Amino acid sequence: MGNSLALVGGPRLADREWPRWPQPGGRALKSLEDVLESGRWTISCAYQGRTSYEQQFATAFAEYCGSALCVPTSTGTASLAVALEACGVGAFDEVVVPGLSWVASASAVLGINAVPVLVDVDPRTYCLDPAAVEAAITDRTRAITLVHAYSAVADLDALLEIARRHNLPLIEDCAHAHGARYNNWPVGAFGTAGVFSMQGSKLLTSGEGGAVVTDDPEIAVRAEHLRADGRVLRREPVNIGEMELLETGQLMGSNACLSEFHAAVLLDQLDLLDEQTLRRSRSADHLSARLGALGLTVQGTATGTTDRAYYRYAVQLPDEILAVAPVHRIAQALTAELGFPVTQTHRPLNDNPLNRPSSRRRFATDAEYMARVEPSQFDLPVARRIHASVVSFGHEVLLAPLDAIEDIALAFEKVLAHIRELAE
Ligand SMILES: Cc1ncc(COP(=O)(O)O)c(C=O)c1O
Repeated sequence: MGNSLALVGGPRLADREWPRWPQPGGRALKSLEDVLESGRWTISCAYQGRTSYEQQFATAFAEYCGSALCVPTSTGTASLAVALEACGVGAFDEVVVPGLSWVASASAVLGINAVPVLVDVDPRTYCLDPAAVEAAITDRTRAITLVHAYSAVADLDALLEIARRHNLPLIEDCAHAHGARYNNWPVGAFGTAGVFSMQGSKLLTSGEGGAVVTDDPEIAVRAEHLRADGRVLRREPVNIGEMELLETGQLMGSNACLSEFHAAVLLDQLDLLDEQTLRRSRSADHLSARLGALGLTVQGTATGTTDRAYYRYAVQLPDEILAVAPVHRIAQALTAELGFPVTQTHRPLNDNPLNRPSSRRRFATDAEYMARVEPSQFDLPVARRIHASVVSFGHEVLLAPLDAIEDIALAFEKVLAHIRELAE
């Protein structure tokens, strides 16, 4: 450990190729060719005599999630907005949103003219803090959204109990958690609805994509309408050349359909997910033992978690290290040693330049609404502290062999040993 840090001109610790993401599986190319030749590139084109890839994916993903029903969507953001509206949430309703998340957690709520109420997170799991949720509920609250964040599962027992007691729908945002399980059952199936993102960085991806899962047939039918311009797939047989989507007009929607290309890729990726989850967990277990011994605090998960999905591996630095160098410098130093990006967590949503409702005329319904949605009014000390003390990296790294994972531990060791080189 005599050498200086790579960030200040020393030699890099690891010089290796890290796994890339996304990774195509064995049947993607054939399926994509099949879609190209099929004459139907989306469910909103005429039926061609066989089950769409979109419906094949819906069936497979519902089963994977232990849910009765799945409505695929174009993005995770759309799936969150669709799920909220399917639960009857609308203009001026308050929705509990975790304060440490991607901007979509707030923007999807704003997108249906509801009011995101930013609530602080648990210091151990970085997921919604049940006590803070309880304190944030008012007579205007109409839904609770949680995020199973980074590599954690939120405290589902406590949050479900609060939702039931207040008679509120609970939406589980599983954008980070494909494959995670709680009490041996897949996440997404515990709440009123579960929503997923299949954007390019996600554990299950088609570049862009999303899905809503639920056991409630009424919510599923509303979600179908909402994602397909007020149309639902016909339940009775359809002739070739006819539209499979039926215009009921029962509920006005927008177009947030998943294309056949995306659905074909998702079916390919679903084949790979469980084996990848296992490999990531093995790497994470090794790394967590090593980093724990160095005095770092690996992100925790709710008691009851039986399988973690490591969308991002996150670890908190001790105060004595942070007293010497700020977290962004430590992240830069680790990036320089390892050759893949190590970053801070999301910026808390009360202080995030992406969460700016006042920048968009669409939301300027009146001054009262604008005051209610102003992010800076919320106090999120735990989220702020996590942002100032946690570094994280993407899940693809955990697919590397164990000797490469050991390099990550060695890079942390090196950066901690040379922390004074990072003082500002
Ligand atoms: C927690 C969470 N929710 C929702 C989304 C939105 O998903 P999408 O980018 O597919 O719209 C993301 C995206 O990263 C996310 O991290």
